Amino acid sequence: MRYVFVHWKHDIPEEPSHLWYEVADDNFQNRTIEFYADGSVGFAIRGPALDGSEDIEVGGTGNSTEGFPDLAEINSDSQFEASEVTAVDFERQWREALASRFRMTHVFTIAIDGPAGAGKGTLARRLADHYRLNLLDTGLTYRAVAYALLQHALPLDNVSAAETAARQVDLAKLDRAMLSAHAVGEAASKVAVYPTVRRILVEKQRDFAKTPPGAVLDGRDIGTVVCPDADIKLYVTASAEVRAQRRLAEIESIGGSANFSEILADIVRRDERDMGRADSPLKPATDAHLLDTSEMAIEAAFLAAKTIIDDALAKRDKA
Ligand code: C5P
Repeated sequence: MRYVFVHWKHDIPEEPSHLWYEVADDNFQNRTIEFYADGSVGFAIRGPALDGSEDIEVGGTGNSTEGFPDLAEINSDSQFEASEVTAVDFERQWREALASRFRMTHVFTIAIDGPAGAGKGTLARRLADHYRLNLLDTGLTYRAVAYALLQHALPLDNVSAAETAARQVDLAKLDRAMLSAHAVGEAASKVAVYPTVRRILVEKQRDFAKTPPGAVLDGRDIGTVVCPDADIKLYVTASAEVRAQRRLAEIESIGGSANFSEILADIVRRDERDMGRADSPLKPATDAHLLDTSEMAIEAAFLAAKTIIDDALAKRDKA
């Protein structure tokens, strides 16, 4: 990958004056940022189409695949001044440009909901990386409350202790490794039924979502309760059997052993608890895009989600 910065010295208002290119090879511009004299910013993102047939383009500008000229060739025209830049500089520009673009409109929110083990966590991480958005796994906030109660050997139905623990949750300090144990997840789904605990955590999650340039949040009630105005809502699901199979493979991959039917029973029980509770039950928002990953690898799920998001971004750019 190479990174090139070009200063285009002209006085044509509709053309960009400063361009940053990410050049994947001599023939392929991956991402481009364009700065215009009036302070507006343009983006182009190129990637493979879902069916792999050809490259698609998203964004406000037309990118050329006819070959990226070398720097000497660009600089031979005195209107241009081009130089090689570092990946770090490019990433910083990209982030800042996105932030200023989103600030001009509003923060961008991607809400991902679904049952345990459907692949929403991995998908959320891929999307946050790709779109350079903040990321919050809201399950960790419920897990942190449960963990605090378990640590102090308090019963999980001690609502006032759970509220205190919820107030103390610091989103910047959620320790995934510490909170990932299966028993903590089970306990989390028990404290998650209490409306007062939910209200405290939802408030923190909303504040997180408001931070520019925006965020990907995954959980059970993001599209329905936490961020009902999210730009994109995805509901990621998979059959209980497939999710149990994935969980078994995960346990076995780290040298553990488990029983398939016990895992399946566990998953079904957790689904019932999450879907059956009175406050903020797990269900797709009416305007959510459904992604069933039963027969889909994570990469395919990522590409499907990316297509949905890029379409929405392109529509918003035109609006
Ligand atoms: O996703 P994860 O397995 O970490 O979530 C643990 C539990 O936390 C879930 O089973 C659910 O009961 C609860 N939760 C919730 N609302 C969210 C995220 C998680 O009720 N937004």
